[in-house]
Amino acid sequence: MSDAIHQLRRDYDRDPLTESELDPDPVRQFRAWFEEARESGIPEPNAMTLGTAEKSGKVSCRTVLLKAYDDRGFVFFTNYGSRKARQIAENPQASLLFPWVALARQVEIAGPVEKISVAESLAYFMSRPFGSRLGAWVSDQSEVIPSRQILLAKFEELKRKFANGEIPKPEGWGGFRIVPETFEFWQGGHDRLHDRFVYSKGEAGWKISRLAP
Ligand SMILES: Cc1cc2nc3c(=O)[nH]c(=O)nc-3n(C[C@H](O)[C@H](O)[C@H](O)COP(=O)(O)O)c2cc1C
Repeated sequence: MSDAIHQLRRDYDRDPLTESELDPDPVRQFRAWFEEARESGIPEPNAMTLGTAEKSGKVSCRTVLLKAYDDRGFVFFTNYGSRKARQIAENPQASLLFPWVALARQVEIAGPVEKISVAESLAYFMSRPFGSRLGAWVSDQSEVIPSRQILLAKFEELKRKFANGEIPKPEGWGGFRIVPETFEFWQGGHDRLHDRFVYSKGEAGWKISRLAP
């Protein structure tokens, strides 16, 4: 069985990562890795897995795109009526994972979630291309629909409706910001001796600890 899944494995060949190489500020450390991911040419380095959970404990994940980040947190945009938004309303905690597998790296960021301001959402919405702005109006994200045809009909109807003017931002569409409490930077090493560093936010600033791989 040469095609067996259990035989799929790769020996990561990155040099060991030491604490002295890490920036004491996790956002600056993220920026260094993000820029390397970007320069490496891997597709969509800003694609991240967003994990959320209902109050009951039921968990779900999906991919979203990072659209901004700074010392305040990490921002993505979505429909405020979607399943993820309903979960965030019930339980405003999330985890973000950047799976830069081609680079033998991942970064996980976790913390509370907040809605960004309407002004910030509007500024980003207006920067989107026509089709994406229209698309935000078309879809009641995460609702059951009878067919694709329904979406196309709505798209055409809205195209006519907004033909002469600006497309306003739908009220139920905007950004969420994850405010990091922890960052974990993982890098694959030889013989499964991977490097893991977690930054945890405390009263005295960020504390860095090495974790067993
Ligand atoms: C590469 C990629 C990028 C995506 N980016 C976004 C995004 O930025 N925002 C978004 O709402 N959905 C995005 N999606 C779709 C989500 O993964 C998901 O299907 C959708 O948001 C509904 O999720 P929910 O039902 O859990 O709310 C993306 C999917 C992929 C594969």
